[in-house]
Amino acid sequence: MKSQLNLEHIASGRRELALLGDRVRIRNIFEDCWVNYPQVSTIRAAVRAVYEMPLKTQSQSILVSASAGMGKTSLLEKIESDLEVLRKRREAYRGYISFSLSSNPTMRELENRISEVLGVSIGRVRNGTVPETFCQLSRLRNVRLMLIDEVHNLLLVGRVDQRKNLAFFRALSSPPMSLSIIAFGTDDAFHAISSDAQLERRFQTYELPRWRENDNFRKFLATYENSLPLKKPSELWRQDCVKFLLSVTGGITDAIVKRVTRGAVWAILDGKEKIDLGCLEKAADIPPYLDRFDDEE
Ligand SMILES: Nc1ncnc2c1ncn2[C@@H]1O[C@H](COP(=O)(O)OP(=O)(O)O)[C@@H](O)[C@H]1O
Ligand SMILES: [Mg+2]
Repeated sequence: MKSQLNLEHIASGRRELALLGDRVRIRNIFEDCWVNYPQVSTIRAAVRAVYEMPLKTQSQSILVSASAGMGKTSLLEKIESDLEVLRKRREAYRGYISFSLSSNPTMRELENRISEVLGVSIGRVRNGTVPETFCQLSRLRNVRLMLIDEVHNLLLVGRVDQRKNLAFFRALSSPPMSLSIIAFGTDDAFHAISSDAQLERRFQTYELPRWRENDNFRKFLATYENSLPLKKPSELWRQDCVKFLLSVTGGITDAIVKRVTRGAVWAILDGKEKIDLGCLEKAADIPPYLDRFDDEE
């Protein structure tokens, strides 16, 4: 019976999953699944290019700005795994530092965050000057990039602290450190950084715009659907699904992925095995955990 199922709507490596029991499939649906799409792929390529650039006096930095829930943190994590791959390929080891700005990023807090990720105290930043310990350490570890999430939080401290932080970033991206800063934040992040003209010039800005009704979005949905272990094709790229998803999510990735994954769970619970508009509507709520699980465990 099972072998007669046509599972060509699922990516070849994941077809077997559709044959597993409901409980396993539901758990699988809720696991994060990364979908590459043109905007994120351009940014990943840009970061790789910056990472491989020869050490220059004028470093190139990148700012990724997007609304909350558009996938900045997911992209940052993907970039970290890209960097791990590159690191393994390179003969000369190159390092990076990655951290998230807290909601109170004073200079003391920044020093602590960086010391924490490096596992060694970097000392005190005075007048925007990089402490010698930090300089030596980063030279020793050949640190090339500094990935910072939630960069918009820079605006949450007072003007004086903001200026100090920006001066520190400017120093980090200047010789002798010449680090490339890869920053992620909401639109406010752009305002935070552009208040320092010298720093702003070193940044190339990329945006992750909200999803709209176009081929990019249809492709995103089709790829996501490819990973779902449902026995029938849902064809999420169809106009009615696309319009519905955009209208209830405002084009925010997080909300779209929640709708689709919950919709997929509903498709299993209701025995439909494909996500239709009914499943997407019900997906406004978290599907209940039912113990009506058949054929398994
Ligand atoms: N490229 C992607 N592919 C699949 N799902 C994604 C992608 N980007 C974001 N998501 C989904 O959106 C959710 C929110 O993303 P997140 O990175 O936390 O957004 P942000 O940091 O911009 O607020 C993630 O948990 C994931 O489910
Ligand atoms: Mg985030």
